[in-house]
Amino acid sequence: MAHQLVIVLDFGGQYNQLIARRVRECGVYCEVKSYKTPIAELKALNPKGIIFTGGPNSVYDEKSPHITKDIFDLHIPILGICYGAQLMAYTLGGEVSACQTSEYGKTDTHYDTSSVLFGGIHLPETASSWMSHTDYVSKIPDGFRITAHTEDCPAAAFENAERKLYAVQFHPEVNHTFAGQGMIDSFVKNVCGCVGDWTMAGYAKTAISEIREKVGNGKVLLALSGGVDSSVAAALLAKAVGSQLTCIFVDHGFMRKNEGDEVEAAFKDSGMNFIRVNAKEQFMSKLRGVSDPETKRKAIGEEFIRVFEQEAKKIGKVDYLVQGTIYPDVIESGLGDAAVIKSHHNVGGLPDYVDFKEIIEPLRMLFKDEVRKLGTELGLSPVLVWRQPFPGPGLAIRIIGDITDEKLEILQDADFIFREEIAKARLDRDINQYFAVLTNMRSVGVMGDARTYDYTIALRAVTTSDFMTADFAKIPYDVLAVAANRIVNEVKSVNRIVYDVTTKPPATIEWE
Ligand code: XMP
Repeated sequence: MAHQLVIVLDFGGQYNQLIARRVRECGVYCEVKSYKTPIAELKALNPKGIIFTGGPNSVYDEKSPHITKDIFDLHIPILGICYGAQLMAYTLGGEVSACQTSEYGKTDTHYDTSSVLFGGIHLPETASSWMSHTDYVSKIPDGFRITAHTEDCPAAAFENAERKLYAVQFHPEVNHTFAGQGMIDSFVKNVCGCVGDWTMAGYAKTAISEIREKVGNGKVLLALSGGVDSSVAAALLAKAVGSQLTCIFVDHGFMRKNEGDEVEAAFKDSGMNFIRVNAKEQFMSKLRGVSDPETKRKAIGEEFIRVFEQEAKKIGKVDYLVQGTIYPDVIESGLGDAAVIKSHHNVGGLPDYVDFKEIIEPLRMLFKDEVRKLGTELGLSPVLVWRQPFPGPGLAIRIIGDITDEKLEILQDADFIFREEIAKARLDRDINQYFAVLTNMRSVGVMGDARTYDYTIALRAVTTSDFMTADFAKIPYDVLAVAANRIVNEVKSVNRIVYDVTTKPPATIEWE
């Protein structure tokens, strides 16, 4: 089934993906395209609407991204946001000037709720919007009317309803804009006429039939890490081609407590060929006595490839290799230009030696939250659907210094308790990553009447949207107290717990 499409035309704004996610949240499919896309190409996609993103430039900068007037003659509804609003005004004969007072942050905004954008969404006449601009529209084009203003911005929103052209200086996609999601919903539904035909149930159905058609009776191979993306891709492929699919799950022994078994349980009865390679001894043999973090990572990466290669050889030539690439990877690698090159090196360095005809990327148009919804739709266990990110080398880089079986067991137990307490406190969906680290520090303690000299466990929990920067999670003390108390009582050889309160940067999320 073909979906109705809205195009998010990217002018270099930091919120391009956020806008696209907001549109998808309305149940409307959208794709992010570069502003350089030829108008004829945009037209051929037959979009129901176009949204111009913001951008860092001024329309008067020599190098600022522009668009020809022709786009407004397509008779496709357009919403311009921030720079997009200024560009719309400028291109249609309005004027843009430098602000006397720049606006940044939450700003009181007065709305004309007779606008289709602002009516019927429980928006009061005055409410906060999120502003971030140094230029403003000082004269709106002929045929437009102003529909919102602030103290310093006389045209905070303007429109030509007849031509279905709308513009907002603020950012409706940012949560701080009151009823911002409602404004986007109004645009895509009431202005563009989208019906909201984008659901993960529909996606699953279409993807399954497309995969079947493409694969025919070919052989498909997937490297399953147990992470959300590869698990959902596996579940989708299993439904589509069943026994033609082989998933190889390399258990290097550094998974969290019970995790290897959970992955196996989720897939072993799914009709596909599921191969779990228990390679703990093989990995341990390469790591004994190794304490340098980079050497550990390298050894694990190399061994991973070796084990995978051994298994893949047994299967012989495959026709398709599945990768769990998702839409943010596609957008970030240049809106598709570089996607193939990147995906080739995406799965722990796999494909170079696996003999295959073509790559299948069944999640390449989905955002992470959609991947989770799809996983739920496919009946995948919540343990896998809601799994937090987990580094490829696993607990090996959360045991500081050299790794032993004893240390691995200590860390698995401590980490399990911490995760359990976070889940009990219902913090697990708000904190983006949380785990325990076994430091290589021992200190003196007292237990009963006896002196102890045992390990220190560090607890780490962060909130982040992109994992490039992160804040430490402000976990309530009583939750930390219960976790700490349980760990020192239930896990042998641990007598001290510390909580890591550094941000990234300067620290990183992992300790190694
Ligand atoms: P750092 O420690 O660099 O971590 O702040 C950022 C995010 O990346 C994850 N991470 C890894 N993921 N292989 C992975 O697949 C790795 O070698 C690796 N190292 C770090 C980390 O868990 C965090 O989510």
